[in-house]
Amino acid sequence: MTFRILALPGDGIGPEVVAVARRVLEALAAPEDLALAWQEALIGGAAIEAEGVPLPDATLEAALEADAVLLGAVGGPRWEGLPGVRRPEAGLLQLRRALEVFANLRPIRTRPALAGHTPLKPEVVAGTDMLFVRELTGGLYFGDKGRDRRGAYDLCRYETEEIERVVRLAARLARERRGRLTLIDKANVLETSRLWREVTRDLIAREFTDLDFEVLLVDAAAMLLIREPSRFDVIVTENLFGDILTDEAGVLAGSLGLVPSASLGGDTGPGLYEPIHGSAPDIAGRGIANPIGMLESLALMLDRSMRRPDLAARLSTAIDRVLEAGILPADLGGTATTADIEEAVLAHLSLPAEPAAAG
Ligand code: IPM
Ligand code: MG
Repeated sequence: MTFRILALPGDGIGPEVVAVARRVLEALAAPEDLALAWQEALIGGAAIEAEGVPLPDATLEAALEADAVLLGAVGGPRWEGLPGVRRPEAGLLQLRRALEVFANLRPIRTRPALAGHTPLKPEVVAGTDMLFVRELTGGLYFGDKGRDRRGAYDLCRYETEEIERVVRLAARLARERRGRLTLIDKANVLETSRLWREVTRDLIAREFTDLDFEVLLVDAAAMLLIREPSRFDVIVTENLFGDILTDEAGVLAGSLGLVPSASLGGDTGPGLYEPIHGSAPDIAGRGIANPIGMLESLALMLDRSMRRPDLAARLSTAIDRVLEAGILPADLGGTATTADIEEAVLAHLSLPAEPAAAG
């Protein structure tokens, strides 16, 4: 069976990092006799320029037919003046919604080699290894929004079922990890948060009594994330809080440029894999983009959609070795170019696989 990948390079540094992912995937697949079909389509600003809309029908159809979608980034100053529904970001939101990828997994860990590369004290970030599960197809992002004569509004609405499915997925993941689950909400103010808390507590009491479960208010959580990051294992939260907190938590990895994501839905339909860093228009085209968030997203795709955890582990190990060797891109204070990192990762991939170190 051929595994069909739809690549959506998008805008800014998106095309640069997607090109790296393609070559690294080919290198991984070659000795494995894996049948891959690679197709590319337009999204975001690139699609607006070519087709006048951020998510052309052809892109959506190709995505629905693919086994996995790899996305670079969308957005940039060129399209900032456009109305909401015609902006590049709207294309990504429509795609997430159409693929029904309601759970966005964002793993964030501090590699020992990079503990000195964050603005926090190394002893504070040491041991950080958390997995955010951000709800991705509901809440303020998708609620009714608009303007009236005196102002503007965005409706935040969640249905019980939308909460339950993402919390169940997060709870299962917590079970596979260290068994700790944190719900982040604003239940002292928001009615949707009170529903999240009710539904989550019920579900945990019914199906996941083995987990160490806690709830935190989002303001306190924002503080604890940088004061005591190693206390977290799996975090589940609604769409907007998840967007904000994962940029904050990205600092713990050393740079947002290292953080990947996997957006998953039910058992059918493709997963959507994208780095969380965005299009970085200020460095686009200069050959210095950090491709690691994209490559780690590729590792998530190998693991979750291709069911090749062995290849995913080989790729992640190669990335670890490159960083341990001090080959660092500009966002980590180094001088390695995108091409240098690609070359180093490819070189480490061809070394005999080592078992992943414990801990
Ligand atoms: C992200 C991004 C997107 C989001 C933007 C580009 C719409 O910030 O994936 O975190 O807000 O979800
Ligand atoms: Mg974001």
